[in-house]
Amino acid sequence: MVALERHADLPLRPDYTLDQPRHLYSAEDHAVWRLLFQRQARLLPGRACGEFLAGLRGLGVAAAHDDGGGVPDFERLSDLLDRATGWRIVAVPGLVPDEVFFGHLAERRFPATWWLRRRDQIDYLQEPDVFHDIYGHVPLLMNPVFADYMQAYGRGGLKAMRLNALHRLARLYWYTVEFGLIETPEGLRIYGSGILSSKGESVFCLESAAPNRLRFDLRRIMRTKYRIDTYQKTYFVIRSFAELFEATRPDFAPIYAALEAEPDLGAADVIEGDAVIARGTLDAREGGWESGRADV
Ligand code: PHE
Ligand code: FE
Repeated sequence: MVALERHADLPLRPDYTLDQPRHLYSAEDHAVWRLLFQRQARLLPGRACGEFLAGLRGLGVAAAHDDGGGVPDFERLSDLLDRATGWRIVAVPGLVPDEVFFGHLAERRFPATWWLRRRDQIDYLQEPDVFHDIYGHVPLLMNPVFADYMQAYGRGGLKAMRLNALHRLARLYWYTVEFGLIETPEGLRIYGSGILSSKGESVFCLESAAPNRLRFDLRRIMRTKYRIDTYQKTYFVIRSFAELFEATRPDFAPIYAALEAEPDLGAADVIEGDAVIARGTLDAREGGWESGRADV
């Protein structure tokens, strides 16, 4: 089911980008953006990490005010981002082929979906839209260490494709960029974009007793399946973006090879050797896990 307003027939460049079709946003789209934005603005102080909140401020959240508080203009955001870390945002119709996605990241271009969810989908959408991609991902690209991590990830993606290890790198992305937590002196904070763009999971990931919270461990994460249709059963916690960047600096080729001998782990598993910060009750009603599919 493809919503009409996504205009699936807009022409794309060979790299799957298009100029953000700003004229297609309706007053309703802008109103939905403002609502999403305001809800997260209330929830995230004290829950999101300082780097994210600083990035949001640096973007002038910005962008929101200038345009009367609607869907931001990618070019204006890109100019601010470019000045901070050399990244730019490019508009895409949605998920793009892996090699295209990694190619953009490797060139410090963040592919952002241009269309917005409808009001009746406000709490849950299984694919990324402009709110997830811009609000969730772009503020951290204002941080120099995280900005470098994302570029390294793009290069690493192209390499993982050649090594048939994309599923391992995808798990790393999932448990860091999309659903990562970070430890601070004030307690755990969110840096994962999939959480930051979700009202329910922003609270759940920190305050529910249901999920496991384990310390970040690269090889462990590369063995761990995940859920795409519910809140996560396990969150991995980094100490800093520098830790993440250093842990992912080594050549992954021998790691991919060594992991072939090790079994995959389920999304809820806790194993010997895990540094457990909090072991979850895994209460299925809390996490919405009774419905739906298996881990992937
Ligand atoms: N070091 C990784 C490799 O050799 C590249 C990478 C860096 C991947 C950062 C993800 C994140 O493939
Ligand atoms: Fe995302």
